[in-house]
Amino acid sequence: MTDPSDEELIEIALGASKNAYAPYSKLNVGAAILTEDGKVFSGCNIENSSYGLSICAERVAIFKAISEGYKKFKKIAVILSDNSGIMPCGACRQVLAEYGDIEIITLDQKGGIVKYKLSNLLPNSFRLYK
Ligand code: THU
Repeated sequence: MTDPSDEELIEIALGASKNAYAPYSKLNVGAAILTEDGKVFSGCNIENSSYGLSICAERVAIFKAISEGYKKFKKIAVILSDNSGIMPCGACRQVLAEYGDIEIITLDQKGGIVKYKLSNLLPNSFRLYK
């Protein structure tokens, strides 16, 4: 099976954003992460009345993948439910960095696909062991 294109990954993330539970921020985020062996896991943000317990879409997606035994990733798409772009927050960058230098895909203000290397968005990320 061939890998989904960047456009397809964005589409999957967009679908996931529709499941966001974000009654407080009203920001519905979706993410879709592609594993090294071509599997896709999606996630949405899930908020809580106790605000600090909320979790971002990217972390839901990657934690789903890891909990299913996948730890090698190629790229992750992140998108808002209105089909506009969003950059991963610092916490998500650190979580993603744990598993390598993944490519991050989102949209620019004109709706065009933009890609970043995680190591450019989070240089010198923290690691417990070098
Ligand atoms: N959010 C994400 O899902 N991903 C990010 O990278 C940034 C923020 C969510 C968390 C919260 O539910 C809402 O957006 C507002 O911060």
